[in-house]
Amino acid sequence: MIEREKNQNDIIDQELINSFGIDYIFDSKPINRLKNKPTIENVISRLNDLKKKIININNCNLKKNATQIVFNDGDYKSPLMIIGEGPGQKEDEVGKPFVGDAGQLLNKMLAAINLKRQNVYITNVVNYRPPKNRKPELAEINRYSEFLREHITIINPRILILMGSTAMEALFGSKIKISKERGVWKELIINNKTYLTMITFHPAYLLRQADQKKYSWADLKEIKKKINELKLII
Ligand code: URA
Repeated sequence: MIEREKNQNDIIDQELINSFGIDYIFDSKPINRLKNKPTIENVISRLNDLKKKIININNCNLKKNATQIVFNDGDYKSPLMIIGEGPGQKEDEVGKPFVGDAGQLLNKMLAAINLKRQNVYITNVVNYRPPKNRKPELAEINRYSEFLREHITIINPRILILMGSTAMEALFGSKIKISKERGVWKELIINNKTYLTMITFHPAYLLRQADQKKYSWADLKEIKKKINELKLII
């Protein structure tokens, strides 16, 4: 066979192609750069996996005494995620967070800044009702905070609202006081991602301490301001 003479004007030089690797140049398959983009299916299946993981938890006093898991409510695509403490009696019966008296107040608080409950995403620190509605113990908060962090990562909200000291402790530790920390924007970092976070009073606390509602109203106005600033459609 006569070897083809190399011509300086050849546009494609075979040796050059070989040095790149022929697949690199001619493979027509698209490169899957969007592999990690969260699709709707992806979010739903990750939420289902997380729920299963919590349902399969062992040696948990909360689970042992509760009727059922209370996992979430609202829109998982929402840019606003709200985290409460844990289910009460009504939530334990119905299987959804914030459906009792505190939930009624939460709905009114949201309505006060023109938000509909169904357009935000709601969950709790612990997903099973603590016996006699006691506050979850520190060990329980810590155990469930692993799930909660994963939950936040899946929902990936633009704004995170922590209602009450239990939600605050689960994500910022137990050495701080809600009365000092509420009402200002904080950065919560999970897996190198920063979530804009506001700690505010829990609606159940406001039902007991109506004089604290003025602080809650100030926080709600800050939240509304941020929603507008970020041009979020909720
Ligand atoms: N209080 C909470 O923190 N969560 C609920 O779901 C209900 C009441």
